[in-house]
Amino acid sequence: MTEKLEDIAIAMVAPGKGILAADESSGTIKKRFDSIGVTSTEDMRRDYREMLFRANDAMKNYVSGVILYDETIRQKAKDGTTLVDVMRAAGSIPGIKVDTGAKPLAGPTSKTETITEGLDGLRERLAEYHDLGARFAKWRGVITIADGLPTWNCIKANAHALARYAVLCQEAGIVPIVEPEILMDGPHSGHDIDECYRVTEWTLRTVFRELYDARVSLEGMVLKPNMVIAGQKSAKQASPEEVAEKTLRCLKSTVPSSVPGIAFLSGGQSDEAATQHLSLMNAAGNLPWALTFSYGRALQAASLKAWGGKTENVAAGQRAFTHRAKMNSLASLGKWEAGLEKAA
Ligand code: 13P
Repeated sequence: MTEKLEDIAIAMVAPGKGILAADESSGTIKKRFDSIGVTSTEDMRRDYREMLFRANDAMKNYVSGVILYDETIRQKAKDGTTLVDVMRAAGSIPGIKVDTGAKPLAGPTSKTETITEGLDGLRERLAEYHDLGARFAKWRGVITIADGLPTWNCIKANAHALARYAVLCQEAGIVPIVEPEILMDGPHSGHDIDECYRVTEWTLRTVFRELYDARVSLEGMVLKPNMVIAGQKSAKQASPEEVAEKTLRCLKSTVPSSVPGIAFLSGGQSDEAATQHLSLMNAAGNLPWALTFSYGRALQAASLKAWGGKTENVAAGQRAFTHRAKMNSLASLGKWEAGLEKAA
């Protein structure tokens, strides 16, 4: 495996490939397992993730890398192979979530806002993760839209933390995925697509200014943003074409072309909507960066359901995952069509 940051970043967003976000914390994976009536034990979490990483067709052809959680990067498959070696054998790059979560932001103006923590001791943790095989990392800052929110204080604090994280990663030979997420499932009914545009643009401008101040090499990073989309509670939902058009406009005005790739989060969009939006953007063409997926829910939901925690369903779970990975691979090339979903 090549070790130059720029080469790793380019491999992460290679044509027709995207990233599988499988870095759910123990709390989040418990919620996912609750939804299918499965108890979240260490072995069950291992079995589930091993199922995904052994879906060879998906991992070889459609997935460039996988974001892992601390437990998973240290875990062994049933046969004793490390899960890291399982995914490497399929040609996928191991990555690691290194933030320690979004915590309440202190201060009288912040209300329900959060600041993502995890900078203390990060240099040492990155060195260990590099030894364990990680070649990229992820840190997610969270921005909420609500009455009077977000505050400038929250955007600035999260952007600053993202930049400090990113430069530490690059020092350690690890490509940072910089993820400022404007939530779409917030509480606010006035959260339409134009409000999302305004907050996304403000956030991305702030993030890139902080990255510049910290001297982060833009060639050696990947941006993981939300799409510009109406909040789930908004009465004014936007068409897929409007989501694609406004997302591209916002990114073109804020993300330098020296960034090799942008890999979206799915953020609570339906599986097909996340795929369709990505495909429309790539079909528009003439983009300065690769545009692909780094989905968690939108890649895993169907597979999780098909698996249901049962050994006899592993093949069905892998088929469901491979299908979504293939659909998103096509979307990253602008070649997805609704008919392909039904054909499967
Ligand atoms: P979703 O695609 O489910 O939003 O997850 C992606 C991710 O990594 C969030 O941090």
